[in-house]
Amino acid sequence: MSNQKLSPLSRIQGTLTFEGDKSISHRAVMFASLAEGTSVIENLSVSHDVQSTINIFRALGVDAKQQGNTLTVKSNGFKNFSEPKGQLDSGNSGTTARLMSGILSHLPFQTTIFGDASLSMRPMKRVINPIREMGAIIEVNEAGTLPMTYKPSASMHAMTYELPVPSAQVKSAVLLGGLFHDEKTCVIESEQTRNHTEILLNLETLLVDGKAHIFSSSKNFPVSQNYFIPGDISSSTFFIILALLLKDSELLIKNVSLNPTRTAALTLLQQMGGDITVQDVRISSNEQYGDILVKSSSLHNVEIPKSIMPNIIDEIPALAIAGMMAEGEFKLNNAAELRVKESDRIAAVVTNLKHLGLHVDEYQDGFSFTGKQDITNTAPVFESYDDHRIAMAFSLAAFLMKDGAEITNFDCIRISNPNFLNQIKELSK
Ligand code: S3P
Repeated sequence: MSNQKLSPLSRIQGTLTFEGDKSISHRAVMFASLAEGTSVIENLSVSHDVQSTINIFRALGVDAKQQGNTLTVKSNGFKNFSEPKGQLDSGNSGTTARLMSGILSHLPFQTTIFGDASLSMRPMKRVINPIREMGAIIEVNEAGTLPMTYKPSASMHAMTYELPVPSAQVKSAVLLGGLFHDEKTCVIESEQTRNHTEILLNLETLLVDGKAHIFSSSKNFPVSQNYFIPGDISSSTFFIILALLLKDSELLIKNVSLNPTRTAALTLLQQMGGDITVQDVRISSNEQYGDILVKSSSLHNVEIPKSIMPNIIDEIPALAIAGMMAEGEFKLNNAAELRVKESDRIAAVVTNLKHLGLHVDEYQDGFSFTGKQDITNTAPVFESYDDHRIAMAFSLAAFLMKDGAEITNFDCIRISNPNFLNQIKELSK
């Protein structure tokens, strides 16, 4: 739980590749574990979150061996999962806890899943409600927070569910539950969220009255296969923004995910005047990926439309730092979901920006401020709130400050990118 002092940077230059995207990695581990046979996952995420998913399947009897970034999964299939000796630890990972509910509810034995202090405060009713509608027997406290116990249920069934919140985790939990039934389960989504579950499982999607209807059934049950996971676009966004903001910088990021449900932050940064070029788009396991070339740029703030909110939700803390260094007003609304992430990311960003002496307005669903304000506190200690994306976003602010800055409990970055500081070091040599 130590603070990290970060020194200012004058420029970054070079080429980077990122370990596999966290969201795609979680799903590849889940699908490889459910399938009977051997699957090899290359360029797996090195994040602690994905380790939580791997360890849960190990506890269910799956043989998963990791060598560097390659994970070899040997599974006897879902039907032969064994009863775990203890409770299942989801760590800090909301994706693990929520997606697993579609799977754990279909097991013939009881399981309990728990999480760390931060995850234990995050809302789980959003998956409890639909999975109970699917017939699940779930024991949980009144507040609907972890731990949750799944009891075997003889009455699980397919269902149709319209998402009340735009959430890829809830969508995926229900669609995963649908894999265990011959009848089709349908999830109705009115705002597009990341679609890795649909893509990797080849799910049918129909557009009806402007809403996506996504179907899963036993026909889509995963079979063993090999995966190559494109680099993590969310981890790369911090570096893209840093290259834009530092003078004389040029950065090439190779083999990074370019799934269109994840690239709205890139488009927004281009609209802000960012010199960002996407090159050589390719496809692996149905997922688009390619290379991104970024050069230093002067930025101006632009309107952030509601429709892209689910697409940029993980990038907002980093985008706020871009906004702080850009001309004009940065205004964010329609982002109340940020209050229930690994920390209350609205409060976290606002408090840290105010800590620099900036004038910031906070709303229930966002915040606004004028870019390029004078910074009056030149030796700040930023609070990470034990949240990896807050720690990395305010690292960017630290690298831009005349005397650098300190970040509290910096270790939390391992949740998504343990290599963050090594990568910065390589690029700033
Ligand atoms: C994720 C979905 C998003 C995102 C999270 C990862 C996923 O959460 O913020 O980091 O892998 O499905 P929500 O589904 O809560 O929006």
